Amino acid sequence: MASGMIPRDFIDDLLTRVDIIDVINARVPLKKKGREYTACCPFHNEKTPSFTVSPNKQFYHCFGCGVHGSAISFLMEYEHLEFVESIETLADSLGISVPREKGGNTPSKEQQKRVKDLFTLMEEANDFYQVQLKASKPAIDYLQGRELSGEISKQFNIGFAPEGWTNLSQAMAKNYSQQQLIDSGLLIHNDEDPKNIKTYDRYRNRIMFPIRNRKGQVIGFGGRVLGDDVPKYINSPETTLFHKGSELYGLYEARKFTKKLERIVVVEGYLDVIALAQFGVSYAVATLGTATTSSHIKQLFRAVPEVIFCFDGDRAGREAAWRALNNALPEIQDGKEIRFLFLPDGEDPDTQIRKVGKEAFEKSFVDDALSLTDYFVDSLHQQNNISSSEGKARFHDDAIQYLKNIPDTFIKDQLVTRLSSLIGVSTPAFLKGADQKKSTHHTETNLPRIGNREVRHTPIRYAISLLLSNPELVKFVENIEPIALSHLPGSDLLTTLIEAIQENPNTNAAVLMQRWQGTQYETPLIQLMQWQPETDDIEILANEFKDCINYIHKRTSEQKVESLIHKERTEGLSEQEQQELVFLLQQS
Ligand code: CTP
Ligand code: MN
Repeated sequence: MASGMIPRDFIDDLLTRVDIIDVINARVPLKKKGREYTACCPFHNEKTPSFTVSPNKQFYHCFGCGVHGSAISFLMEYEHLEFVESIETLADSLGISVPREKGGNTPSKEQQKRVKDLFTLMEEANDFYQVQLKASKPAIDYLQGRELSGEISKQFNIGFAPEGWTNLSQAMAKNYSQQQLIDSGLLIHNDEDPKNIKTYDRYRNRIMFPIRNRKGQVIGFGGRVLGDDVPKYINSPETTLFHKGSELYGLYEARKFTKKLERIVVVEGYLDVIALAQFGVSYAVATLGTATTSSHIKQLFRAVPEVIFCFDGDRAGREAAWRALNNALPEIQDGKEIRFLFLPDGEDPDTQIRKVGKEAFEKSFVDDALSLTDYFVDSLHQQNNISSSEGKARFHDDAIQYLKNIPDTFIKDQLVTRLSSLIGVSTPAFLKGADQKKSTHHTETNLPRIGNREVRHTPIRYAISLLLSNPELVKFVENIEPIALSHLPGSDLLTTLIEAIQENPNTNAAVLMQRWQGTQYETPLIQLMQWQPETDDIEILANEFKDCINYIHKRTSEQKVESLIHKERTEGLSEQEQQELVFLLQQS
């Protein structure tokens, strides 16, 4: 397991060396159509192809569902890989190895071995618990009482930690040191009383649920009491392997047992996941006694386009749902769907599926689950009484706070439309306050949109589009200063783009996108990348690009003239400023 950061230059270089057409074509056969390649989108169901791949930009984009990205993101989405794995796959295909930056975070060989041993330790413990289950009548009785089939218990490798303080540690003592057992979280080391230091098994007399990472390695356990003792569940503590806030119980199993994973249901408990799987809903996962974090949502969206949160209908369930929604807002993407299903009072997914069965349970995703938009608007409405003007103002204030966290997407636009019509104001009026409150990072919100809306191409945007499809045009920028100084919308993005290309002339749109993913530039760049020049003729394009740059220069000097004239009338000009004004006026 190599660690340490992958140098950014390597990633840039990789993206200029691989050809995204080859990468995708090997997995999804592409057809050439004009300058681009197309296919039916592998990420949503469609009959006519709206998935296009640009060899120039080294970028794919689906006009149907909005997915887009570089060769790296394609592999992440298509093969469910993590970022690093995706880079490794691409590097492999070129026969090169992935370098790592040296530094504080690079684990030594010895540390790597320790981690490897820890994985083996967990796997052996898991075996131990499973063997113990077979020998324990009370544990088997308990599982039968919960109406879990033997088959499903086996699929989820359910085990049992027997009564007693040292069963596991004794069984493992041959192969592992006490320190290793403590590091794994399975052995508790109590040193509160220095004269009487005690170690003992963390899990005793509990049903054991192994928690696996995405590769299927056991990284932790959940342990449930057989009866009504408290705590009902004990989860592994934070260890080198186990980080509660980012793990999802059952994700590995969902991938393994579902032919084509297209959606995921998120539930609260281990037994919910397993009961659903027993009844054929094999695509459920659970957070581990924590709220749904944005790291969870990122992982879920990487795996599937549709996520359904399933909560109890009670107050606790509603609160958990609202928390999940809040953590989901920054992760909202067009083409990815989140729904909220509230179960009838007193039911959890385990009891519900036993009552209604697979078909009705799945039907409720469609019939009863609320879309994120519906749930958000309804909840906000319930939280504020909007019958008075004051109530409307509060509602508006609240809404704006939440909207700030949502990336610029079609979903966000829809939300704004719904929210504004609810309090009877126009969308621009609704957003007016928001723009003032927004930081300067968000000056790009009015850029052309994906879909059938009109695209208004200002010279700045046009120049950006041209540079994205033909980075070599950068050579026509002789002086970046007038662009940087122009206060035209988008000039900061154009300036940044020019600098990035000047720094790395071999670059392409995919490299730049990869680099700016998650920044304020991502959305405008995606939007501007949609635009296709009408010709391939580089001379024509060069002339158009030069026109744009000239226009920007002209605008900058006009602005300068205006401000100098204004100053002349108010404060008066210095000698130098006067000369400058004369010069500028002569020029124009
Ligand atoms: N949980 C936990 N620690 C606790 C209680 C609950 O981590 N002390 C987590 C577990 O992931 C558990 C889930 O919350 O699976 C649901 O717990 P609860 O609502 O108490 O489950 P019940 O349906 O009451 O019990 P069971 O798990 O037996 O179905
Ligand atoms: Mn339950």
